[in-house]
Amino acid sequence: MTEERAKPDEEQLHHIEHLPKAELHLHFEGAAPPAFIRGLAREKDVDLSGIFRPDGSYAYRDFVHFLSVYEAATSVLKSPEDFARLCTALLEQSAENGVVYSETFLSPDFCGGGDVTAWREYLAAIREAAEAAEASHGITLRGIVTCIRHFGPERARAAALCAAETADDWLCGFGMAGDENKGKQRDFAYSFDMAREAGLQLTSHAGEWRGPQEVREAVEDLGVDRIGHGVRAIGDLAVVDLLAERGVTLEVCPGSNVFLGVYPALADHPIQKLRARGVRVTVSTDDPPFFHTTMRAEYRALAQTFHWSADDFAEINRVAMEAAFCDAATRGRVLKSLEAT
Ligand code: ADE
Ligand code: ZN
Repeated sequence: MTEERAKPDEEQLHHIEHLPKAELHLHFEGAAPPAFIRGLAREKDVDLSGIFRPDGSYAYRDFVHFLSVYEAATSVLKSPEDFARLCTALLEQSAENGVVYSETFLSPDFCGGGDVTAWREYLAAIREAAEAAEASHGITLRGIVTCIRHFGPERARAAALCAAETADDWLCGFGMAGDENKGKQRDFAYSFDMAREAGLQLTSHAGEWRGPQEVREAVEDLGVDRIGHGVRAIGDLAVVDLLAERGVTLEVCPGSNVFLGVYPALADHPIQKLRARGVRVTVSTDDPPFFHTTMRAEYRALAQTFHWSADDFAEINRVAMEAAFCDAATRGRVLKSLEAT
């Protein structure tokens, strides 16, 4: 495929990285710049020196260690006001990268410990900050409540209850992140059922670390509309075809996968193969400062590696907005703004 496409020149790469973008897979706390977390740690007199390298970036050895550094960084985000400040910072970052529409994973576990009353306060503060960012930067944000797999099914039920109690046009999805090597997708079926009954759309991390069977189970046991990553489906073409037939959209985060060692290099990443076989793929950053990436960097790297053109990225964005969990009016408005360029 790459051979048949023209290699983009510098002018084309510049154009591609400045295209408007839709991003569906962004962990709220995972988007916190290290300097932001260090600033909060100083204010609150918390010693977080162990989670940073001398150059100031986050320090971790592997995926499981990444999850614990992530939770340590998140521990200084204490009040609704802290989350509102982070919301402002991350939307500025996204808007600078040309993102016009973003969905973010929010965890009641980190916002009030799964208590519905506390969760409402965090959510209100985040939404207020998001509205202000929309007015000043023209970026639209929507929220997906996310349970954390390695915290177990019971805490997931509390997260699902928070989601069900606050489901609306803004809080429009429910999902699962965390350590895929713990438990099974179906252990969380009760929570996903509760969320679905509340009108929420569903996504789950699968096939980032485990193989194609995990992706099949997310689709068949949880009935998800989208999958976080899902890239290891490529190991079984029957699962790839299942995704294509059911129109399940993958939230692919190529830079994250390469940085965490799921694939040795972007050239080895299956995003192009999945797309060529009819799977609906989109592009996101996951936890940009943790993986030293941005949406601009993702677009540039994909264009360089797979020779994707501006038309390919227009399709990626169209697919993302078709799979977005927002209401139809928002979808239509964002699609128009993406087409206008
Ligand atoms: N939480 C934050 N980033 C994650 C990832 N890449 N996989 C699973 N859980 C996560
Ligand atoms: Zn993720």
